[in-house]
Amino acid sequence: MDQAGWDGENERGAVGVGRIMQTWEAITSRRNVRSFAGRPIPPADLDQILEAGRRSPSSQNWQPWDFIVVTDHAQLRELAQVWQGAGHVAGSAAAIVVVGPAADNQFHRAQLDLGQAIMAMMLAAADLGIGSCHAGVADIQLARELLGLPEDRNWALLISLGYPADRPLVPIKNPKRRPFGEVVHRGRW
Ligand SMILES: Cc1cc2nc3c(=O)[nH]c(=O)nc-3n(C[C@H](O)[C@H](O)[C@H](O)COP(=O)(O)O)c2cc1C
Repeated sequence: MDQAGWDGENERGAVGVGRIMQTWEAITSRRNVRSFAGRPIPPADLDQILEAGRRSPSSQNWQPWDFIVVTDHAQLRELAQVWQGAGHVAGSAAAIVVVGPAADNQFHRAQLDLGQAIMAMMLAAADLGIGSCHAGVADIQLARELLGLPEDRNWALLISLGYPADRPLVPIKNPKRRPFGEVVHRGRW
């Protein structure tokens, strides 16, 4: 048994050896990638990323998410029109549309759950060397037309995915973040 108390295979056959290091590597290597190589993502890897989202924790295990996976290039280019900051979706190998629950008040409650699922999928992607980027959806009507969203669903966020065109994902020594000592308060503020 390894340090974390598990040394078996998961249902996708991935052996647990060294996985603590792999998790940290994925956390430190993930960055928002906005230009992608043309190479497609193997379907099993795409499913592993989606599975990371499905397994995410949520308040009272509510699981208020649905995922639509898009790999068709013409559809990806159309999806990129839903928000001015979604241009990176056009050249991605795939996009996962994370769809929120029906009512506004439920959505308010669901935000943290949805964020956890999104981050889990991005880390699972990084673990596979796959880059990812968020994109908000401003034009929900266009998203509805392109994706067939039910009428009562009013919120979605895109995750574009693909192998980075600029440079591979490697641990980032000095990420652009507020300093550790400013963010972390010990004992009290
Ligand atoms: C809720 C949320 C929405 C975001 N929306 C967009 C977006 O619409 N377009 C985009 O290019 N990046 C978007 N981002 C990515 C952020 O700009 C990015 O995480 C931030 O600049 C830090 O980048 P880094 O993780 O590469 O250091 C979003 C991130 C979050 C968490």
